[in-house]
Amino acid sequence: MQTLNIIRPDDWHIHLRDHTTLKLTVPLAERTFARVLAMPNLTPPLTTVPNILSYRQRILAVTQDEHFSPYFSVYFTNDLNEATLREAKQCPWILGVKLYPQGATTHSDWGIDDIHKQFAHLSVMEELALPLLIHGEVTTSTIDIFDREARFIDTVLQPLQHRFPKLPIVLEHITTAEAVDWVQSMPAHIAATITAHHLAFNRNHLLAGGIRPDYYCLPILKRHHHQQKLQQAVMTKNQSQFFLGTDSAPHVQDKKYSACGCAGCFTSPIALPLLAELFAAHQALPLLEAFTSINGARFYQLPINTQRLRLTQSPWVVPKAYTTDDLTFIPLLAGQTLSWQCQPIEGQPNE
Ligand code: DOR
Ligand code: ZN
Repeated sequence: MQTLNIIRPDDWHIHLRDHTTLKLTVPLAERTFARVLAMPNLTPPLTTVPNILSYRQRILAVTQDEHFSPYFSVYFTNDLNEATLREAKQCPWILGVKLYPQGATTHSDWGIDDIHKQFAHLSVMEELALPLLIHGEVTTSTIDIFDREARFIDTVLQPLQHRFPKLPIVLEHITTAEAVDWVQSMPAHIAATITAHHLAFNRNHLLAGGIRPDYYCLPILKRHHHQQKLQQAVMTKNQSQFFLGTDSAPHVQDKKYSACGCAGCFTSPIALPLLAELFAAHQALPLLEAFTSINGARFYQLPINTQRLRLTQSPWVVPKAYTTDDLTFIPLLAGQTLSWQCQPIEGQPNE
């Protein structure tokens, strides 16, 4: 039986949701991850530092691991103000500002309609070195859904980076060869998160032989060659601009499996087993740790975790559903067998 002992991973992009759902998402996340960056697309969105701090308390109220640390980003709305940016920079739990183009995805209605109107804020963020976390897709209805990320890079991101060259940027949950190429062409303060599901799957898993709503997320899964390019990026040495953000995004069963199903793959419980399986299949297990546990911490200038996680090649069946109170969530790969599992190893927490 193969085992692998790695630095405890962090998840730099997760949707924990709120209230009752936290009783499920938080214990699941902390089984694997020491730190998470929880997304602000709640209803209403997290737009101020005090709101983020009270959300943090709701999360801490349900943690079972006292060393688990949630981090946050401020939702970038058209009403953002400079004082919030300065306050956010001072808050040790806030790592950036999340930009959703309006209408791009779940709960993005409060997002930015025209980035050109936000240049003053972007300039303050550049001065503060406060990272901009971007959902990188154009929202024009006439642009094909499979082209929206590549188009965003050309028409929005590249000009923005040119105008604010020192602004730290994380292009979130990248899905295309164009995104990999763009990040690799940039200096170290430009990075990208990649999900486990975009590494493990492509659009055939979503669409061939029947529509599978479990695999529907945004940005949508792309062609196989894009998947291969993402794999290459994380399975090559010294690719420190790429790190794990699972984008685990649970939706209640009725909303996910409906005539107009919600976007989001609930992957928190399977992300590390799935990655171990994938990296093992490519003889790349020694490169897993940099992607899951080192590159992100370095980018956000946080210490590397001192705790460790043991991955064991030992089959387990992904639960058919997770429930909390009267809410049911179906994880990606529900009922399927994965060949790796993980257990935290007790050890000293971070200072
Ligand atoms: O698939 C997604 N689901 N993509 C996002 O950007 C948001 C997320 C969610 O919140 O459900
Ligand atoms: Zn997300």
